[in-house]
Amino acid sequence: MGIDLHDIRYARIGTEDLDTSVRFATEILGLELMERDASSAYLRGDNRDHNICYTKGRETGHATGWEMSSMEALDAAAAQLEASGVTLRAGTNEEREQRRVHGLVVVTDPTGNTIELVARPAACGRRYFGTRDAGITSFSHVGLRTTNASVDEKFWTGDLGGKVSDWIGDAPLIRINEIHHNVALFPSTYAGIQHVNFQVAEVDDIMRSFYHLQQRNVRIVFGPGRHPTSGARFLYFQGPDDVIYEYSCGVRTITEEDEKTYIPRSFPMEPSSFCMWGSRPDIPEFKTDGD
Ligand SMILES: [Fe+2]
Repeated sequence: MGIDLHDIRYARIGTEDLDTSVRFATEILGLELMERDASSAYLRGDNRDHNICYTKGRETGHATGWEMSSMEALDAAAAQLEASGVTLRAGTNEEREQRRVHGLVVVTDPTGNTIELVARPAACGRRYFGTRDAGITSFSHVGLRTTNASVDEKFWTGDLGGKVSDWIGDAPLIRINEIHHNVALFPSTYAGIQHVNFQVAEVDDIMRSFYHLQQRNVRIVFGPGRHPTSGARFLYFQGPDDVIYEYSCGVRTITEEDEKTYIPRSFPMEPSSFCMWGSRPDIPEFKTDGD
C-alpha cells in the first residue's frame, strides 16, 4: 500500500519573466498576489497561503507540492518510500521557508517530475480576494507530463497511493482523495507541468471567463466543453512559459461508498473522450491521430 497523500498544495513554476507571469495570474486568471520579492511571487485562488509560486528563470523548473496530514505521516511516508527503493531527500531549511511548510521531502517520479511531500503548510487567516471576479473556489489539480505513462502510473498508484479514476488512451486520471482526479499524466517527450486547474463555482463563471479572455486576446486552447470522464465543464487557455491553465466546475467525486462499486473506465484516445460537447483541443497532449 502506498502513502496517504491528503491533497495537492501548490505548483512551483519557473518563469522567463516574473512580471509577465504575475500580470497574467492576477489580471487574466484572477488570482490574488500574496507576496513578491526579486526571485519569486506567491499567488492564490483559495484560502491557502499560496497555490502557485512563480520562480525567476525557466531553468528553476517545475515542482508540485502534496500535503500529508502531519509531520509524523510525512516521516512515515519517507521511510516507506525509501524502503521501496524510491530516491528521496529532505528539503533544506531554505526550501522549507520558501514553500512556507514545516516538513518537506523531495522525490522524483520516473519521468523526472519533482514531487514535493509537505507537512504543516502555512495557513492564512484572510480569505481569498481575487483580482477579478473569476468565480474561483479552489486550486484543484495538475496535469503532469510523462515519458512513460504506465511506469509513472505505477509510481503514483503504488508508491504514492493514488487510485486511477479513468484513463484516456494511456493517460491515467488519478485521485488521492474523493475528487475524480488530483493529477493526470499525459504522454509527452519531457517532464513538467502540462496544465494547472482551478475550480470555479458554476458554468456561468466559465462562460464569463471565455468572453473575458477572448476580449484580452488570450489564446483559448480547448473549450468551453465538458469532460465525459469527470463530468466537469471546462475552459483551457494558454499561459506564459508554455503552461496551460484550466477553469472547471462540477467535477465528480468518488466517495468511499462509491468506491465499493466504482470501476475505472478506459476511454479511447479520441476527441469525444476529452469533450462530450464536441469542442476540439488545440493542445498537443490531447490531440489524437485524426486531428
Ligand atoms: Fe484538467
